[in-house]
Amino acid sequence: MQNALELRINELLSQMTLGEKVGQLVQISAPRDEAGKERLKSRIRNGNVGSVILAFSATAGNDAQQDTQVEVYNELQRVAVEESRMGIPVLFGRDVIHGHRTVMPIPLASAGSFNPELVEKCYAAVACEAANDGVQWAFSPMVDVCHDPRWGRIIEGPGEDPYLASAMSRAIIRGFQGEDYSEKDRLAACVKHYLGYGASEGGRDYHRTELSDSTIYNLILPPFRAAVDAGVATVMSSFNDINGQPVTSSKKYLTDILRGYLNFRGFVVSDWAALANLRRQGVAETEAQCAAMALKAGVDMDMVDDYYSNHLQALVRSGEVPEALVDNAVRNVLRVKLSKGLFEDPYIHKNGYDRAAHLRMAYELAAESMILLKNDDHTLPLAKHTKIALAGPFKQERRALLGSWVLDGKEEETPHFREALENALQGSEGAVICNGEDITEDAAEKVFAKGDVIVLAFGESHLVSGERHSLADIELTEHQISLARRAHNTGKPVIGVIFCGRPLALQAVEPYLDAILCAWHCGSATAPVAADILLGNLVPNGKAPVTFVKTTGHIPLYYNATPSALANNGYYDQNPEDCYLDIPASPMYPFGYGLSYTDFTCSPIRCEQSTLTLEELKAGEKFTLTVDLQNTGLYDGRETLQLYIRDKVASVMRPMRELKAFQKVSLAAGERRELSFTVGYEQLGFYREDGEYVVEPGGFDIYIGAHCLTRNQIAIQIKPC
Ligand code: NOJ
Repeated sequence: MQNALELRINELLSQMTLGEKVGQLVQISAPRDEAGKERLKSRIRNGNVGSVILAFSATAGNDAQQDTQVEVYNELQRVAVEESRMGIPVLFGRDVIHGHRTVMPIPLASAGSFNPELVEKCYAAVACEAANDGVQWAFSPMVDVCHDPRWGRIIEGPGEDPYLASAMSRAIIRGFQGEDYSEKDRLAACVKHYLGYGASEGGRDYHRTELSDSTIYNLILPPFRAAVDAGVATVMSSFNDINGQPVTSSKKYLTDILRGYLNFRGFVVSDWAALANLRRQGVAETEAQCAAMALKAGVDMDMVDDYYSNHLQALVRSGEVPEALVDNAVRNVLRVKLSKGLFEDPYIHKNGYDRAAHLRMAYELAAESMILLKNDDHTLPLAKHTKIALAGPFKQERRALLGSWVLDGKEEETPHFREALENALQGSEGAVICNGEDITEDAAEKVFAKGDVIVLAFGESHLVSGERHSLADIELTEHQISLARRAHNTGKPVIGVIFCGRPLALQAVEPYLDAILCAWHCGSATAPVAADILLGNLVPNGKAPVTFVKTTGHIPLYYNATPSALANNGYYDQNPEDCYLDIPASPMYPFGYGLSYTDFTCSPIRCEQSTLTLEELKAGEKFTLTVDLQNTGLYDGRETLQLYIRDKVASVMRPMRELKAFQKVSLAAGERRELSFTVGYEQLGFYREDGEYVVEPGGFDIYIGAHCLTRNQIAIQIKPC
């Protein structure tokens, strides 16, 4: 029996001409000027537009975009609703990636908060701001698991782990969509880039991928599965190919797996001009072929190519494309429009929002995202009376701190680090000594001489990450390394604060720094949070969502790899010196790692019942693993305990460790708490290459600790029956 929604969709469909149907599958970019606006109005009036993307260019994350214009969108919407024959509203989409006016940390950084509840709350605030400015649909979350920090788009994603990626995928979608995305302050979400884009070879954007089925099912697909299960409204297909087939033209991925296997019910939008790419990728010769291939594969909406609008009607008339396929795509689009409540109220209302509250949330999330990577001899936190000699290219930088993919955040509203440090020191005897531009290292040395400690504001510009902004070398610049060396030579404590969009390779600079704070591009609150961490007003608690390599040549280096064939292994923490001849293949900082100002100790793992049968597991029984976590240091703090498994013998090789659970808790100084984890059927299995999930009997090692290399382990056993 059809439900009311499907009946409504079919009723609309039955009244539509072929041209109007195709119109629903067309997305046009926002008008740049009056003439463009009039042209767009006329297309909308004729029923030729389903959606408008509020961007002008292919790489919206790096190019200047127009501010949102609510009056214009409402005017366009009025034409759709009142002047087009069917009166179907258009859907306005924008790249709301990690913030709107209030900018949250780049998604890679916020994954390191290991705090999905907080991420959800922050993205609800982002949704509210964007909705106020006319956005109804956000092209986010981007959940491309990635092993290559050269890839500029690593900033947009959740890092290297599928479990953490799935948690962040759900959190962002819930934040955007809430319980019901028809609410005015919610957005329809779009999970992307489906599928495998994060594996672009060599970190070169838009390049080919080489992905096994096992990697796809176990590493790449999980956050998309989580998104679909969380009810994501839409999916964006990716530019890359898998197995020589561009995803834009892959029925296997867009229909068989996405709809058949994952049971996705919303609509698929192509990436920007991705239909045209099919010609460059060498699988189609003509525009019409591109359109036919994409629709047959399962692309419901064509982002800005106009191939659907120019060719689909003729393709249907010639019999090349069955009209039923067009109908299906239209159904998918209408399902989302109806669920968004556009037929009830298509217009944008500026209801306002509490900006100060949103800025507090941005501060809170940045505070949980920054990672203290090194803190020798308790260099940090600094006493309030400290004279800080401040140098480095990012000390007065505003824009970079927001990160790439910021369309609506404002540089002039973003405090820089020097100001933030000065603010944090106000009322104390401390001071910031700084010489403005400090272009030369000699000038910086004069500053160093006047401080009790030296703080170096290091990092990279937002323009060296993001789309089409990859790097071949991810080390700090020579200038920064040499500045660090000179600072170190003064004999004073040296603190490096790294503002970055990717996990930079820090081996060359690390020996010169007594403390290192990875401050990321943490959005609107980057500078105040970094300053408050340095001065002890905040206790750092972010963890690495991705491995930090020592040097670019280490890439790819990730914790959840399968073992090497030889006993030495020669990778990550297992005999890493027995891999490359020049430097050990161990990470600079492993996945899950991050220091605090306080100390935590975790007891050995207790497990009352360490053997279960496969039947018992399938019936829902679980292993319960318990530890005591104690804050043995002097500060109240937050720790993220992580649970990893190793499937010791299976029918196929399994990773040396896999994250399967985490808990982030606050403990006052001296406090001790018992924490329990459960591990059951859902955590102990893996996907075979045909996508079937299996749990195989045998022995497993379970690890619980502060990062992926914890030695705190216990064995459990699954008996066959
Ligand atoms: C291309 C990017 O790959 C995608 O992530 C983005 O949403 C679209 N452009 C629209 O700007």
